[in-house]
Amino acid sequence: MHGDGTDGQALDSVCTIPIDELPDGLVVADAEGVVLAVNRAAERLTGVRASEAVGQVMDEVFPFRDHDGREWWKALDLAGGLRTRSRVPERSLRLPGGRELYVAARMIRVPARGGDVERVTITLRDGGARARLERSRADLVTVVAHELRSPLTSVKGFTATLLAKWDRFTDEQKRVMLETVNNDADRVTRLITELLDVSRIESGRLEIHRQVVDLPARAQRIIAGRVAAGEPEDRFRLIVGENLPEVWLDQDKIDQVLANLVENAVRHGRGTVTIDIQSVGWGVAVSVRDQGEGIAPELAPRVFEQFWRGNSRRRGGTGLGLFIVKGLVEAHGGTITVQRAPEGGAEFRFTVPTGTPDFA
Ligand SMILES: Nc1ncnc2c1ncn2[C@@H]1O[C@H](COP(=O)(O)OP(=O)(O)O)[C@@H](O)[C@H]1O
Ligand SMILES: [Mg+2]
Repeated sequence: MHGDGTDGQALDSVCTIPIDELPDGLVVADAEGVVLAVNRAAERLTGVRASEAVGQVMDEVFPFRDHDGREWWKALDLAGGLRTRSRVPERSLRLPGGRELYVAARMIRVPARGGDVERVTITLRDGGARARLERSRADLVTVVAHELRSPLTSVKGFTATLLAKWDRFTDEQKRVMLETVNNDADRVTRLITELLDVSRIESGRLEIHRQVVDLPARAQRIIAGRVAAGEPEDRFRLIVGENLPEVWLDQDKIDQVLANLVENAVRHGRGTVTIDIQSVGWGVAVSVRDQGEGIAPELAPRVFEQFWRGNSRRRGGTGLGLFIVKGLVEAHGGTITVQRAPEGGAEFRFTVPTGTPDFA
């Protein structure tokens, strides 16, 4: 699979590190620019095989250029330049027709201080991955700013109108406006609470405080809450399997998971919402399903992404719910999947291990 194995071996004379194991690309050249070694990651990143590169000159096999088209290797000027210089800071470069790479180098001098350059070690990292990460952070900021601005615009608009024209509105009109303001303020608060959950999940700071949790009772409570809020009672069905084991979970977080899945089933789904709790030996599986449109299999992995709302943008959600649900389930050592429910509709199924007391 891997050429004639010249890669890595050429370096054995100067170093014993198995360079093919490095996660980043590595290219080593001598002071004349003759390539001594190319590791496997560098082959992958540049598309140049070690067997073709070793023994050739840098200029020809790795003609890196910066954004202004300048040749990177020539600009290093190994023979000239300051004799104390050894580090070449990371830069974003390209090979002709290739993708963006982050390239850094170190000049090995003998003697180390002020000597002639003996070798140059060059590290390569995938620039695309980092650029994508930075872009996704920038996207996140844009989305959050937008999500916060729309309710705040409405709060500002209604309060300004009320303050300016208080006497011109009837009590009923004022009431409607204040209700809208109240709802929008709730929405901002919810969004901020969810964003804090997201940040805890992403940074791994989510703490799980385990206690014995009666899952059927928790599910019953969520259903009772929806019924109290005006949902018809026969819209919900609770199925509880036999011999459920005792489970140690974080009750608040499990409530949050159940509430989110039930809310989604009510809001995005249709028909009867079923919560089905079964033992799976080493833990418990909970399925929440409805009889609505369901989720297309090709979109299934996306529903757990932050801010993904499919085409339900108008239904008022933030698109953070399932991302948080997945984070909470995984923090318990569990997993969650989505599939088509037997009667159509979406079926979210999460499984959590029985867990042990915190102090065990
Ligand atoms: N039971 C369901 N039936 C159909 N679509 C669903 C269901 N649950 C979630 N979805 C889809 O997944 C998206 C993401 O859900 P979620 O992360 O909870 O965000 P939100 O509910 O705020 O829109 C929803 O916007 C919806 O398009
Ligand atoms: Mg939701």
